[in-house]
Amino acid sequence: MKKTVIVAMMLVFACITVAYAADVMTFENSKGTITFKHEEHQEMLDGDCSLCHEGTPDKFGIDRSFGHTTCKGCHKEMGGPTSCNDCHQQDAEAAEQATRAEIVEMCKKAEELLLTNKDAGIAEIANKEGQFVWKNTYVFLMDFDGNMLAHPMIPQLTEKGPLFHVADKNKDNPKMIFVEFVEIAKNNGEGWLWYMWPKPNSREPVDKFTYIRRVGFTDLLVGAGIYHKK
Ligand code: HEC
Ligand code: HEC
Ligand code: HEC
Repeated sequence: MKKTVIVAMMLVFACITVAYAADVMTFENSKGTITFKHEEHQEMLDGDCSLCHEGTPDKFGIDRSFGHTTCKGCHKEMGGPTSCNDCHQQDAEAAEQATRAEIVEMCKKAEELLLTNKDAGIAEIANKEGQFVWKNTYVFLMDFDGNMLAHPMIPQLTEKGPLFHVADKNKDNPKMIFVEFVEIAKNNGEGWLWYMWPKPNSREPVDKFTYIRRVGFTDLLVGAGIYHKK
């Protein structure tokens, strides 16, 4: 009888303690955010609190040495994440950043499609829900006369005729970007250019680094850019 009561009390205590601990904890630090699934770890480790806690489980002030000794140490033995970026995750915005490799790959894909079927390519690039709009960026299509042929974010640009007189959004040091796009495509076939432009769904200009690629030997070019992280 006595034993049962004690066990019951221990269970109640255990439940109360567990109820106060968050299922998932996040530790923000200079290297990125760590998402620690406390409850999942407890279950996975058969409820053995002593693997991480000394004495009564509570906050103990997690720090780098605990993370790199206890957390990482166990992962090495039992198979959890051991590389920096698997534990320390850069912010969501960084994860949403398109990479330069993706940009080149998408522009090549758009080029292939345009060379196979120009109309289908134009329609797909202009489609905001299409494959050439991804993460925080998109592909656009122009011709060597400066006309925008497809732009998923600002379709009005396709109605403006040649854009050679239009500058970027850098008030202090405007760049005639459409002239430069065509020069890059004509003279080099491909290249990168810095200028200022708003991100999709925003009005505030930020630094943009754009890849330009001539479409085969046609008078067309495609482009897509990454935005500088502020
Ligand atoms: C794999 C490691 C690990 C295991 C196993 C573990 N914990 Fe924790 N626990 C932590 C970490 C890390 C913290 C946060 C420490 C900090 O913030 O200083 C924590 C915090 C807590 C807290 C304080 C929560 C808060 O929000 O203040 C309680 C209570 C707790 N754990 C209970 C338990 C119990 C009960 C068990 C066993 C059933 C257990 N823990 C098993 C790692 C673990
Ligand atoms: C005693 C062993 C042990 C300790 C201590 C431990 N882990 Fe783990 N952890 C594991 C194992 C095993 C896995 C792999 C689970 C899987 O792949 O299903 C894992 C997976 C993870 C994952 C990736 C999976 C997920 O759930 O997101 C993260 C992140 C993680 N642990 C963070 C931590 C942090 C932070 C600590 C220290 C506060 C810690 N772990 C302490 C055993 C441990
Ligand atoms: C198993 C998960 C894990 C891995 C793998 C890991 N860390 Fe950590 N790291 C932690 C934890 C947990 C902390 C303490 C978090 C806190 O205090 O917010 C930490 C803290 C840090 C800190 C201190 C941050 C600050 O602001 O005080 C730095 C720097 C750091 N880690 C760098 C690295 C580097 C570099 C690597 C790869 C070589 C790495 N970490 C791998 C879990 C990990």
